[in-house]
Amino acid sequence: MMRRLAFLFLVLVAVFALIWLFVDQDEADNRASISDKPDVVQGETLYATSCASCHGANLEGQANWRSPGPDGRLPAPPHDENGHTWHHSDQLLFDYTKLGGKALMAQRDIEFDSGMPAFGDQLTDTEINNVLAYIKSTWPERVQTMQAERSAAEAE
Ligand code: HEC
Repeated sequence: MMRRLAFLFLVLVAVFALIWLFVDQDEADNRASISDKPDVVQGETLYATSCASCHGANLEGQANWRSPGPDGRLPAPPHDENGHTWHHSDQLLFDYTKLGGKALMAQRDIEFDSGMPAFGDQLTDTEINNVLAYIKSTWPERVQTMQAERSAAEAE
């Protein structure tokens, strides 16, 4: 009888230990995903200070952004749904912002005189992701979905 009780006790301890382990794991996962979420509010502030001067306070871009200016460089395109920002994957948008247009294209052996500066020295990777998250948050859901699908396809 005593042995049986002791065995039962051990089984109970094991069950509780397992439950505790799973609950704890869930909480750890939740914490990780919350801190991984981009800070769109910070992104909006950073957009205003770092990007709006060229891409427009309302993400409208520069006038005639499809035609090169007298210096041969393309003007800054809009970042709203009328531009082509949403045609690009997350990775490309990140690299373009971090390295700038010229360095990124040079990596691909394309000589390209770009007016898009590199922000790698001014913004951390997290800050760049937050700015991009803000830009995306202004798109209609339909556009956000298309861009997300494109990113997922490219990441495969
Ligand atoms: C000094 C002006 C200037 C500033 C400031 C600037 N850009 Fe640009 N950006 C440009 C120009 C000009 C282009 C278009 C030429 C090219 O594609 O290289 C461009 C292109 C881009 C592109 C690629 C085209 C597209 O729509 O996908 C991205 C992404 C981008 N900029 C993001 C940003 C972000 C994010 C910031 C702020 C952190 C920023 N830019 C600040 C001038 C600027």
